[in-house]
Order: sequence, then C-alpha cells, then structure tokens
Amino acid sequence: MTKFNLQHVVESQQFDRELIDVVFSVASQMKEDLSGSGQLRYSLAGKIMASLFYEPSTRTRFSFECAMRRLGGSVITTENAREFSSASKGESLHDTTRIMNGYADIIVMRHNEAGSAEKAAQVSNIPIINAGDGAGQHPTQALLDLFTIQDCFQGIEGLNIAMVGDLKYGRTVRSLSYLLTKFDNVKLYFVAPTVCQMENDIKAYLDKYQVPWFEETDFEKVLPEVDCVYMTRIQKERFNVYEDYVEAAGKYILGPENVRLMKENAIIMHPLPRVDEIPPAVDDDPRAQYFEQAQNGLYIRMALLYLLLHR
Ligand code: CP
Repeated sequence: MTKFNLQHVVESQQFDRELIDVVFSVASQMKEDLSGSGQLRYSLAGKIMASLFYEPSTRTRFSFECAMRRLGGSVITTENAREFSSASKGESLHDTTRIMNGYADIIVMRHNEAGSAEKAAQVSNIPIINAGDGAGQHPTQALLDLFTIQDCFQGIEGLNIAMVGDLKYGRTVRSLSYLLTKFDNVKLYFVAPTVCQMENDIKAYLDKYQVPWFEETDFEKVLPEVDCVYMTRIQKERFNVYEDYVEAAGKYILGPENVRLMKENAIIMHPLPRVDEIPPAVDDDPRAQYFEQAQNGLYIRMALLYLLLHR
C-alpha cells in the first residue's frame, strides 16, 4: 500500500505494473468487502471529496460519489459546474481549483478541454483525479476496464483486443491503449470509420513499446480473431463537422448476428453510455460484460480515493 506514490491521477502513463497491481489489490478488497459482509476494512471518515463536473456524466460521477460515501467520507458537488459554479461568471479553472483546496481533501474533475486536469493539478495541493478531460484521457475508466479484462481472463498477457468506433475523440480507448503497453504480447485491432481513426500519438506510443496494432475496416474479419471487443459510441458532441458525424454514425454495430462470429470465451465491453452500437438484444449474452465493467468502476474508484488520501 505504501508503494502508491502518486499525488494526482491525471493520465494513464503515470501507472506502471506495480501501481496497477496496488490499485487492483485494494479494489479487489473493496469488492470482496462490499459483496460480503458490507463491512469495509478501509475508511475515509472525515474526508471530503469535491466533485466538479463541467460535462455530463452518469457512471463516473455517481460511482465516485458513491465510492466516497461507502468509505464514510462526504461529498460536495454541483449538478453542472459550467452552469452552476462561478465558471458561468467567467471564473478560471485556476481560481476554482485554488478555492476548492480550502474546502475539500480531494477533487474529482471532468472538463470539456483536454489538458485541464493537468492544469488544475499544477496549482493544487490536494489530489486531483481526472474524470475525463475532453478528448484527452479518462485514466480511471482505463483502470476499471483493465480490472474487468483481468477479472475475465485472469491476466492480460497474450490477449487480442479490438477497439471499435470513435477512436479519434474517445478518451477511454486512448487511456486504455497506454495501460495495455504494460503487458506482454497484447495485440490491438483498431476498427473505426475513416473520420475517427486512432490518433498518431497513440500509434507512436504503441510502436515505442512494441505493441503490435492493426487498422481494419472489416469488422466481421476482426471479430473471430479477438478476445475482447471494446465498443465505443460515436460522440456527436465532439465533431466539429456535422457531415463527419453522419458519415461515422451507425457504421459499426455489434448485433446478435455479429456476436455469433466471436470466440465462445471472448468478452464484449463498452464504457457506456451507448446509443445504437450494441443493441439490448446482446445484453443477455454471457460475453457481454459492460454492466459488470461499470460496476467495477465503483471498486476501482474506492481504491483510488483511499490510496490518494492515505499516501
Ligand atoms: N464511461 C463514462 O465515463 O460514463 P459517464 O460519461 O456516464 O461518466
């Protein structure tokens, strides 16, 4: 536990194998405690978490707030920081962060601009957790994704993983790609419409760590090859050109007929929310793991809050 030496959680590259193992170990204990007696071995009683969300969220915000409350801490929050904090009067992120330093012990922040969590961390004496910064990163999502994959396969090494959909603006697939470089013999397949393919910075990072990656437009060709299909939503709100969105939307849908092409023991993941890329008819397939994935977010976020506040 003492091996956790991060002050802030801003990007996935901060995590090496040792840190990932520490987070997973505490998250597993949180899961065990909550699934068993409900009696937790860890407590954050007396600690206050500020949740500052400038963009909408269901899973990340509620799981963080639930995590803090489950651990006995308390939460101060605003419904929509862009509208209901003094950001609407022009207050800078710098000032808001400094002010929250005087009220809370930790800040969980989602922002519409990439790089905003790093900016906040630079002026914060209390931990900042990046809960998604525009098309930048979503490191806590990547940790819960990896935790889910590890839970399903008892390891990550040697897995073939397909990332499908909006890979250009998708912060979850960006953050997960960084984490996957920590594991041997992982292969990545990128399946995306032409207008939202994976960015070159991620491809260069994968090359640097000798992680093979392939771009493929034929979804049905990839499905039988992989152990994990990670679907993503085409994020209408991130496109500057509406015609690009129209070109990308609805191109890759994982319906029951496609699921039949997958390996028996493969898994289907999605950070959610979904629109039409996985129809509800797939939900009862034993390979569908997206609801368990979202549930794992609670345990990972409990672990991160605890570790950051007990360094
Ligand atoms: N996966 C995820 O970040 O979901 P929310 O936008 O609902 O938080």
